[in-house]
Amino acid sequence: MEVPKLLICVTLAITISLVSPASSQKLKVGYYKSCCPSAESLIRSTVDKATALDPGAPAALIRLHFHDCFVRGCDASILLNSTPGHPAEIESSGNKGVAGLDIIDEAKAKIEAVCPNTVSCADIVAFAARDGVYRTGKIYYNVPAGRKDGRVSLASEVVSQLPSEKFDVKQLQQNFAKKGLSLEEMVTLSGAHSIGDSHCSSFSYRLYSYNSTYSVDPSLDPAYAAYLKTKCPVPSKTGSASDPVVAFDPVTPDKLDNTYYKNLEKHKGLLASDQVLWDTHVTRKLVQKNVDHPSEWAAKFAKAMVHMGKIDVLTGSQGEIRKNCKVVN
Ligand code: HEM
Ligand SMILES: *[C@@H]1O[C@H](CO)[C@@H](O)[C@H](O)[C@H]1NC(C)=O
Repeated sequence: MEVPKLLICVTLAITISLVSPASSQKLKVGYYKSCCPSAESLIRSTVDKATALDPGAPAALIRLHFHDCFVRGCDASILLNSTPGHPAEIESSGNKGVAGLDIIDEAKAKIEAVCPNTVSCADIVAFAARDGVYRTGKIYYNVPAGRKDGRVSLASEVVSQLPSEKFDVKQLQQNFAKKGLSLEEMVTLSGAHSIGDSHCSSFSYRLYSYNSTYSVDPSLDPAYAAYLKTKCPVPSKTGSASDPVVAFDPVTPDKLDNTYYKNLEKHKGLLASDQVLWDTHVTRKLVQKNVDHPSEWAAKFAKAMVHMGKIDVLTGSQGEIRKNCKVVN
């Protein structure tokens, strides 16, 4: 017979909850310290190993956390497999290019081997994104934890919750506001587009068929547009053409830094939703601030990642701790 596991995560929260129940619902830094002390280091070593094999792994993990949090909150719903007749989030076109799920599964397997049924997949995603930020940007922050995993994942919900690369500033602001994030946080977090890559299909209309007046988006630097054309084929209406990927930052594609903002200043934003930040007075001012004060941007980025990681989280008795991140218990 199995002995019931009595180790409790964050005993402090239990004491406080006797006085004020609401505080037990908050995420806590060091949540797994007493119940699974090796959790964070197991995740870090898994991320480091994945990064050694693929320098694009941190970018994938950061985007995975963002896409998890914006759809049904940070509840690891993005990791769930489809079930018959019910395509899961990962199948949505809005999650095109999303990767890193295998890295989360590997970390989860290592953790389950030492502390079964203890560490949620949603927390692993948040920790792994933090480790990705540190690997690529030398930007460190503590991750408040205690998230539980959701039991629902619907492809049909994704597109309406995520921002589109064709949004203007107003639409981006509204999309982030719906998640409790400010305009400045939107600009700050967009700096994640200084690492990783994009499929040509996310921006090639800007190169070949912008509108009836301009074939090339006039907000694109002409030399940069010419360079992108060498990377991306003319979009095919049949959708059968190849769809290569292009680095957001061709110079330092694996360095999370403020070059993203310098590129916007030079009209070298890859996505339309990047370059539009140069369009309005307010966002242009914020972009310029991030160009001039890189360490302040880094501090804001860390803070905004923590804030993003709190969107609509499940805590306490809500949700569950999945045994396998791909399926509900
Ligand atoms: C502001 C609105 C945003 C829009 C419209 C947007 C859109 C996109 C698109 C279209 C791609 C390329 C997908 C592909 O074609 O493969 C992408 C990649 C990426 N996004 Fe965003 N994004 C936004 C905000 C964010 C935020 C807030 C983060 C994280 C904090 C983020 C992190 C990333 C990363 C790291 C990649 C590269 C992924 C990789 O190389 O695997 N994005 N984004
Ligand atoms: C084409 O795009 C330019 C620049 O964004 C814009 O000023 C113009 O109004 C657009 N033209 C049409 C016909 O949509």
